[in-house]
Amino acid sequence: VIAAFQPKLLAGKRVLITAGPTFEPIDPVRGMTNLSSGKMGYALARAAREAGAAVTLVSGPTALDSPYDVQRINVQTAQQMHDVVLSHVGGQDIFIAVAAVADWRIANASAQKLKKSSGDGMPKLQFEHNPDILATVAALPNRPYCVGFAAESENLLQHGAEKRKNKNIPLLVGNIGHQTFGQDDNVLVLFDDNGHIELPRAGKQALARQLIANIAARL
Ligand code: CTP
Ligand code: CA
Repeated sequence: VIAAFQPKLLAGKRVLITAGPTFEPIDPVRGMTNLSSGKMGYALARAAREAGAAVTLVSGPTALDSPYDVQRINVQTAQQMHDVVLSHVGGQDIFIAVAAVADWRIANASAQKLKKSSGDGMPKLQFEHNPDILATVAALPNRPYCVGFAAESENLLQHGAEKRKNKNIPLLVGNIGHQTFGQDDNVLVLFDDNGHIELPRAGKQALARQLIANIAARL
């Protein structure tokens, strides 16, 4: 379907989206990241823009081109993503957390490159928790309509329903990690108060349009 013919279901709305992985430094040349390509989050940004919304996309490192007429803010770490989201969340109607945020960062990251033969064996990395961006936004007094994503490796129906309740959000979108990471198509399962429905396998841009229409109908 050509974008110009999409119904303007989100005209006048403001949508904030996180996308991609985060990157947590170990030293100046190494880090910890995850398998998110950013494709689903960017497809949603495009679909929301086509639906008439003003879209802000907070993106971890990806190899993707910016969607047309979307304000894109690049970040590297989960903490940076958290800070940018919280400084832009005021006045947003919808927050869609698609990013695969690192749950931990390296507490003792080194300012100098670690050398492989340093004499005292392997580097001893220590971890600390990153803030939960979605949970933080969902707890705001004037919170936007919050949508979460979950990539699971198994038991999607159980984990998805539980995660939606634990995060205290009205809608959570689940998928199976190895069926989505880097792929151009996917299957989505939408969890809400009434249970779950499946959006069958389709290209990510087509799924993004279906999901945006579904979200618009819930506002
Ligand atoms: N999320 C977030 N900030 C984090 C971790 C996750 O905003 N620090 C968001 C993700 O963008 C996603 C949702 O929370 O929308 C669920 O992420 P997920 O990693 O599946 O859930 P967790 O609560 O981190 O649980 P776990 O990784 O243990 O399954
Ligand atoms: Ca996580």
